[in-house]
Amino acid sequence: MKKVTLGRSGLEVSRIAYGTGPLGGGMGHFDEAAATASVRHALDVGINLFDTGRVYGRAEELLGKTLGAELRRDRDSIVIATKCGLRPSGSDNPGDPGITRDSSPAAIRSDLETSLSTLGLDHVDILQIHWPDPMVPLAEVSGTLAELRDEGKIRHIGVSNFTAQQLAEFDAGAAVAETSQPGFSMLNRGPAQDDLPYCAQHDVGVLVYGPLAHGLLSGAGYDPSRVFGEFDWRRNHPFFQPETMTTNQQVVGRLEAFAAERGNTVAQLAIAWTLAQPGVHVAILGTSKVAHIDAALPADDIELSEADLAEIDAILADAIAIPFFQVEDM
Ligand SMILES: NC(=O)c1ccc[n+]([C@@H]2O[C@H](COP(=O)([O-])OP(=O)(O)OC[C@H]3O[C@@H](n4cnc5c(N)ncnc54)[C@H](OP(=O)(O)O)[C@@H]3O)[C@@H](O)[C@H]2O)c1
Repeated sequence: MKKVTLGRSGLEVSRIAYGTGPLGGGMGHFDEAAATASVRHALDVGINLFDTGRVYGRAEELLGKTLGAELRRDRDSIVIATKCGLRPSGSDNPGDPGITRDSSPAAIRSDLETSLSTLGLDHVDILQIHWPDPMVPLAEVSGTLAELRDEGKIRHIGVSNFTAQQLAEFDAGAAVAETSQPGFSMLNRGPAQDDLPYCAQHDVGVLVYGPLAHGLLSGAGYDPSRVFGEFDWRRNHPFFQPETMTTNQQVVGRLEAFAAERGNTVAQLAIAWTLAQPGVHVAILGTSKVAHIDAALPADDIELSEADLAEIDAILADAIAIPFFQVEDM
């Protein structure tokens, strides 16, 4: 597995990271034994960056348990990135969003302490603010993370779902964002306009989530009338609404043909395309299955030429663009 320096964090990480989202149950049912085997397998094939989050159900617990022995044996060989600053709203009112943003110092500290004890660690390598909280100035949030770094509880400071403007506001505080985690894929190219250029200019390490458009670019094929389970966060996602899905799956079909001509799958093409975009260092593959890790690995060796990228752009011009999907919409 090829390694890359994750921008100004200086961390050396695999270009394909393991995303524990599916281990939280937020993408439908998963088999616990198969999922933990996939975590183990990821490590065995050379993946050293594992992305998780406080609000991903049992994901931190399963990750900590599965990698526990390895983390105790050689802590610095594995990069654990978790996220803080979101909590279930706890309201019974069905009109309320299920998730509340909270980047107050107390919430960040409490989330981190819970993550550390759940993971069984005394520090995490990257702590990311999951979503910007409009109630707390971002320069203040930066200050809280700077304190936690000084205390040795986190090694590096990250953010997620931040625009370029929000990154600049954060960077004006006591610490700068060393990493950024936007949602980005062939079907969600919005961050390429301003956010990725900001990161490239300031050497921010970029690890993107959703490189397979949360499954749409996996080659699995979705029935446009499919109704996702009650706890599957894709239930309300604009990608998966019938009209958009129908059009975009036709585009995926053309990408599939393009990939097949070169001996690849569309999932491999989608990951390679993501990694080829200026400013992107890492693609986080969300999975709970050994076979899906193996299916993605050849992406690491795909080189896309300028002509390939132009041909892909022409295919993507027919896709329906998706607006920035906010956490409250889930
Ligand atoms: N910062 C944020 O706000 C945020 C938001 C969402 C996600 N994330 C992070 O980013 C990670 C990746 O995002 P994502 O989960 O949306 O990623 P993704 O890689 O775009 O899609 C993951 C989905 O694709 C499926 N899949 C993967 N390979 C497949 C294959 N070969 N064939 C069929 N299906 C396949 C997975 O199911 P299987 O489990 O069956 O493999 C899963 O349902 C998450 O796990 C999480 O760590 C962050």
